[in-house]
Amino acid sequence: MFQLCALHLRKSCIVSPTTRPLPGLQGSVNDIAIANLTYKRGHYVAMKEAEETKMQTGDLLRGKTVVVTGAATGIGQAFALGCAAQGAQVVAADMHDASQTVAAIEQAGGKALAVRVDVADNDSTQAMAAAALAKFGRIDGLINNAAYFREVKLTPFEELDPGEWERIFAVNVKGIWQCCKAVMPAMRKQNSGSIINISSVVAVAGQPGYLHYVATKGAVLAMSKGLAKECGAHQVRVNTIAPGFVITDATKNRPVEWQQSFLKARAISREQRPDDLVGTGMYLLSDLSAFVSGQTIVVDGGHIMY
Ligand SMILES: NC(=O)c1ccc[n+]([C@@H]2O[C@H](COP(=O)([O-])OP(=O)(O)OC[C@H]3O[C@@H](n4cnc5c(N)ncnc54)[C@H](O)[C@@H]3O)[C@@H](O)[C@H]2O)c1
Repeated sequence: MFQLCALHLRKSCIVSPTTRPLPGLQGSVNDIAIANLTYKRGHYVAMKEAEETKMQTGDLLRGKTVVVTGAATGIGQAFALGCAAQGAQVVAADMHDASQTVAAIEQAGGKALAVRVDVADNDSTQAMAAAALAKFGRIDGLINNAAYFREVKLTPFEELDPGEWERIFAVNVKGIWQCCKAVMPAMRKQNSGSIINISSVVAVAGQPGYLHYVATKGAVLAMSKGLAKECGAHQVRVNTIAPGFVITDATKNRPVEWQQSFLKARAISREQRPDDLVGTGMYLLSDLSAFVSGQTIVVDGGHIMY
């Protein structure tokens, strides 16, 4: 029985303790209460419960091979572990070392391959697909999760650096196009496939100070619809997941006031963790969603009702 403990994920979700005083708030991050959560001893108390939970295991993806980009950490790592827990062979692709993700899968009895890729580089994405086919012989799913994201700093739109504007589009938009191009020949040959593109609620709701990022995530929504229309002839489905504010290494240092505002606005008022996205991903990759294409699912605890 495949048993993946969510503890691996927890390590990348835990928010580091800091005693930095918070503007406008009393006390330090160590003892601040956010909605129904208390932040103590370096992580949210609610996460303690989550540490006990196991990844949902099953056979939804048995026999399938899924490529997950940005799988070294955060949300991509959660997707990779989730796919493996549902029986898939996983290609954990990242510009950084994804061997920890692969080791966690293999330790639990699954099959995985770590591949270095820069999604902004066409040759690199072609090599990623070739490595997946060489190892597992097929590609059934692709989660386009890698993004220029953690580097993004709050900046008024008139002050954005043109070079950063180009880079973010190269990774977040062109990167998705290139990964789709790389896997499509295999999916077309198989006459089946499921592609999930990771957008963000900011594409639906807007967000001041992140215009270039918001613009790329809006492009992801539109691109997914265009791709869905074009790939349907080959029984390849393309859908989008738009996460809310998720606690990962990329976001843990964002202002606590900001995190608090998200929590307050949610129908389900708790912090969002990477594994909150996994179930939706498994549904969209599996045959449960065989007639679903071109759709966007917002997974944010009922903040934006889209
Ligand atoms: N965390 C959130 O609050 C949140 C909210 C909405 C959407 N998202 C989206 O979810 C996805 C994952 O976010 P995260 O919080 O896990 O971020 P993260 O920074 O922890 O993970 C991103 C991963 O992508 C990899 N990567 C970056 N550029 C790459 C490139 N050019 N080629 C290959 N790999 C590359 C990084 O190495 C990293 O492992 C992103 O698409 C992000 O935009 C995140």
